[in-house]
This record gives sequence, structure tokens and C-alpha cells, in this order.
Amino acid sequence: TEGGRQLDQDRESYSRNAGETEQHNTLTDRQGHPIHDNQNVRTVGNRGPMTLENYHFLEKITHFDRERIPERVVHARGAGAHGYFEAYGKAGDEPVSKYTRAKLFQTPGKRTPVFVRFSTVVHGSGSPETLRDPRGFAVKFYTEEGNWDLVGNNLKIFFIRDPLKFPDMVHAFKPDPVSNVPGPVGMFDFVSRSPEATHMITFVFSPWGIPANYRQMQGSGVNTYKWVNAEGTGVLVKYHWEPIKQGIKNLTQKEANEIQGMNDSHATQDLYEAIERGDYPEWELCVQIMSDDDHPELEFDPLDPTKLWPADQFPFLKVGKMVLDRNPENYYNEVEQAAFGTGVLVDGLDFSDDKLLQGRTFSYSDTQRHRVGTNYLQLPINAPKKRVATNQRGGQMQYFVDKAPGQSPHVDYEPSMTDGLKEAQQTAKPHQPNYHANLVREKIDRPLDFKQAGDTYRAFENWERDELISNLVAALIQCDTRIQEVMVEYFTNADEEYGRRVREGLDQAKKDRGSDASKSIRDEAVQDAERKSHDA
Ligand code: HEM
Repeated sequence: TEGGRQLDQDRESYSRNAGETEQHNTLTDRQGHPIHDNQNVRTVGNRGPMTLENYHFLEKITHFDRERIPERVVHARGAGAHGYFEAYGKAGDEPVSKYTRAKLFQTPGKRTPVFVRFSTVVHGSGSPETLRDPRGFAVKFYTEEGNWDLVGNNLKIFFIRDPLKFPDMVHAFKPDPVSNVPGPVGMFDFVSRSPEATHMITFVFSPWGIPANYRQMQGSGVNTYKWVNAEGTGVLVKYHWEPIKQGIKNLTQKEANEIQGMNDSHATQDLYEAIERGDYPEWELCVQIMSDDDHPELEFDPLDPTKLWPADQFPFLKVGKMVLDRNPENYYNEVEQAAFGTGVLVDGLDFSDDKLLQGRTFSYSDTQRHRVGTNYLQLPINAPKKRVATNQRGGQMQYFVDKAPGQSPHVDYEPSMTDGLKEAQQTAKPHQPNYHANLVREKIDRPLDFKQAGDTYRAFENWERDELISNLVAALIQCDTRIQEVMVEYFTNADEEYGRRVREGLDQAKKDRGSDASKSIRDEAVQDAERKSHDA
């Protein structure tokens, strides 16, 4: 950046002048003063009291007091890496330009730098990486046309389809607001009133809910987006990342427990160490494409993020691959301060009318202005690698003025007859969908809440089904019987055997415990502790 470069140049020439008194590695404060004593505060006599003008101490301690920014409200625990995306120039066998004019995809072999952040979703920034949860898979492409963020998860679908439900869903999944103890009670209370979550719950409680690490998992954009070609014609598109080199590996609950007993950062460590030893993970980017309409011939709505698009009808078309080959130099600067958002698109990529996607798009940059700060886009990890020129000025921690070279510093507005920034010429044909509908608050017409959950259940291998049933029983046995009843009904709607096995598992678990149905494991633990203290 212009401001950053100037600062570096000034510092270099000043430091040369200070060379007689300072070494290249002399400790200074942030005002540039050399620090002669970093072990002792200034005191009246060597036993104190301290004086308040200890500038170095105050700067050091007050900065330390502010070292943490708020953790992400979801996806707080994560790991990141740099790399590149290499385009194939094609979508399957066809030229990619048939569907999108986005420049990064057009030329075979063309490389675009990327930064990726993987994460867990619900748990806090210090939580173990073995917990059952979807995994985040967020990719920032620093393209020649500005940044594109593809903010996805490992699983291809989501719990809900309406963004109005998202804050409640996250509250229900987070630890109890009184005890701060995490558990399945809130989750299943919410899900039993949200039948559209049955499919996602089927994935999350199977081994697919605990990927072995971040390298051996898939990624997906989940929401439906659009691609727009040179004629301005749009198609619906879904994005998927396939781990071609590493393959896919998921864990049983027992395997996860064993890892968790030894290591709460196994996935971060695995990614970091693989890249350090030159074993660079790779994913192939595939897209599924549908014409841009509501597809009345399908049983489901193509804009519904709780649905898979069947791969036999909508094949995976390969469009490029991504390689991660460089670890961050500083975790905080690059991973913690990284800010991804679904609104960050380049020409040739567009939104669909997927409501969840629209809700997300508001949420990301809003939270980032709070979490990182108003000028979060000036930080190197978030700034595009191409030129930026805006009339946005001021705000906390503005680091430089992002104006065009030679632009008058007086003209920070547009339009102007005298100077300042000018609008770009519209060369590409705009994509202009046409809308005719009443403004309503309504559910979609084709919810199809259970069918695909049944398809997914039947597609699992035997061991995956066994794990799914035992994980669900272990969670549901802690819940109210009314919740158990509804969940069994949902699983039965999906697949008769699925529902029956969960019911049998719950009946057996109750028999084993010899307890009444409403008693939770937590109640039992409390009674156990009481008995022990009584005996003592
Ligand atoms: C992070 C909101 C659905 C993937 C976040 C954050 C918010 C948020 C506020 C924190 C961002 C930050 O602090 O930088 C929402 C809302 C959703 C939604 C309102 C639905 C209405 C989804 C879905 C996916 C997803 C469907 C998967 C496709 C992610 C990922 C991150 C994230 C990967 C972490 C990004 C990073 O690594 O920094 N989301 N989200 N979210 N979300 Fe969502």
C-alpha cells in the first residue's frame, strides 16, 4: 500500500541515521524510543511505589490489555493457510466461458493467490478440534478483478433455510446461557421444531460430523449462487471442493475421544505440519449447474440450502484446483483478523435469490466492522492485491487514504468536474433478472424436509449408520421425552428403519439406566455426586 510503503522507506532512512546508537534489533517502544531497561519499572527506591509516568510500562501493559479482539460469534476456532487456485479454463468438457465471464476461470493454468481459513462452528476459540460440528471452509481469492470470497462448510447442506432463524439456532447450539455447559438439549429442542434440519442432523451425527482433520475433508459453498456469461445470461451454480490428493477421512466418536484426550489442536497441527514438510494439500473445485429458473419438475427447490442437487442429474464439473503451500507468518494478523463474506464477488459471479444467502451477506461485513474494525479491509490479509480507490475516509485505525495515484487529496467525493475518482465504464452486459411477486412472509412451496435425509441414511455404509444411531441415542437420551418423540418421528419420516433404530436405541438406553424417561444424564451425574458426598 502507498501509506505502508512510505512508512517503510522513512523507517529505513531514519534507522540508518540512528545506527550509531542503535543495533538493527534494538528494542523500542511504539514511539520509536530505544528501551534501555525492560525488566524494571521506575520506582521510588527499589521497593516501590511506582510512578505513573512509566511510559514504556503503560504502553506495554495497556496494549497487552487490548491484545484480543472479540472472537467470531460462530466459527471462532480456526486455522489458515496461503496458496493458489489454478484454473482449467473449462467446466467439465465445455469452455467455462459458456457459463461465466469471471476472469479467474478463463485461461487454463492461470493462477490466483488464495487464503483459506478452516474452522469448527459452534464452539469457542479455545475448544478442542475433535468436537462434533460442521467445519468451515472459507476461501479468499485475490483476483485481478478484486477479491472473491467463497465462504463454505465441509458438508454440502445446512440446518435451516431462512436467515431469520440463524441467531436462535446458534443460541440453541451454544452452551447453556446459565451454566455455560455445552450439550445437545438446546440443539434438539430447536431442531425438533425445525424439521428442515433433519437432513443436516443426519450428516452431523454420522462420522461426517467429525472430519479426521482439515486436509481430509470436502468443502462446499452450500448456498446456490449464479454464474453470468458475456451475454449477461445467468445459470444457478453450486460449488464443491474435493480433496483429490488426501482423500476423505472421518472419525468415529471413540477415535475422536481418544485424540481429544491427547491433543485439543490436532487439526491445526496437522495442517501446519503438512505444509511445513512440503506435503501441500490440494482440492479440486467442481460446480453443479442448473438453468436459472424455479425448476417445477424437481421435488425440491433449487434455492433451498437444506438440499443436495443429485449428482446424476447435475454432474460435478471440474473447473480448477487449489493448492495450499504456505503457512501464515503470524496467526493473529492473518488468521484471526481474516474477514470473509458472501457479498464479496467479482464480475461474472452473482447471488441467487436463496434467502439464507441474502441474510448471510448482510451479516458478515456487519460483524467484521464490529469484530475487527471499520477499516478491516485495509489490513493486508483482507485487502485486495489490486489497486483500491474509494472515497471512504476516516474511522478507527484508518491506516492510509486509498486514493488513486495523482488524485487531488482535496476531492474525496464523486462526481466532481475538477478531479477525483470516476465511475468505471460498464463494458459487460448486465444480468437483469425480472421479478413479479407479492411481498410476503411465507415458507417455500417444496420443503421436502425428510426425503433426502432418508436417501443419505441409506447411502451411508453400515459402520456409518451404526455410529449415527449410537451418537443420536447418546445425545437424545439427555433430552426431554417430547423432543425424543418428535425426533424419532422425523427420522421415521426419512426412513422407517432409521426411526426404528433410534427408538430401539433409546428404549434400550432407558432400560440399561433403569430410570424414568425424563431423567437426563446430567441429573444422574448430579445425583451421583450427591450420593458420593453423602457417603463420605
Ligand atoms: C462465519 C453468519 C450461514 C459458513 C460467520 C460469522 C457470522 C456468520 C456472523 C462470523 C464472521 C466473522 O466474524 O468474520 C451467518 C449467518 C448465516 C450463516 C447469518 C445464515 C443466515 C452459514 C452457512 C455457511 C457458513 C450456510 C456455509 C456455507 C461460515 C464460515 C465462517 C462463518 C466458513 C467462518 C469464516 C472465517 O473463517 O472467518 N457466519 N452464517 N455460514 N460462516 Fe456463517
